[in-house]
Amino acid sequence: MVRRDLVLVVVLSIAAIMLFSVRVEGQGTPTPVASPGSGTATAAQKASPIASPGATPMAGEVDLAAAERGKNAAAVCLACHSTDGSQMVGPTWKGLYMSEVELEDGRKVIADEAYLHKAIVDPMAEIVKGYPPSMPPLGLPEDQVKDLIEYIKTLK
Ligand code: HEC
Repeated sequence: MVRRDLVLVVVLSIAAIMLFSVRVEGQGTPTPVASPGSGTATAAQKASPIASPGATPMAGEVDLAAAERGKNAAAVCLACHSTDGSQMVGPTWKGLYMSEVELEDGRKVIADEAYLHKAIVDPMAEIVKGYPPSMPPLGLPEDQVKDLIEYIKTLK
């Protein structure tokens, strides 16, 4: 019985020593993060210029964090809109961004951010040709509208 306790103590001590030495080694090793070409962006920043949180995306770029929030907020919309091109009560969102949309009054417009914004906050202002004017004004807060637009932009 005593012997087994002793073995346990020895094993635990060895484990503790190993853990300790790993930590010491880790501290001693220099982290090679910003060394190559110091002064320029790190590899991670270069790899995803649009996904860096907090950065304001340039026009035409997609804010991926906002798009993710928009995807969640879109649940209520997906009763009438598809994201895969299939036909529902409303037009599909697939390929909508920057496409040409024909309106009921005969005008043709480009579905840029301003158009999408208006389509969401004031659905009766411009009606897509061939669809009933049945989209309700949903009274969404402005930041949610922006997130939804970012999400629609990802649906190519
Ligand atoms: C009750 C069904 C319904 C719901 C819910 C709905 N829509 Fe619509 N939506 C429509 C219909 C029908 C149209 C086409 C007629 C029009 O232009 O208003 C449309 C048009 C649009 C357009 C313009 C599409 C195009 O091809 O130009 C956008 C953008 C849009 N909706 C976004 C949304 C968003 C975002 C939501 C959720 C917050 C939403 N819709 C919820 C029915 C709906």
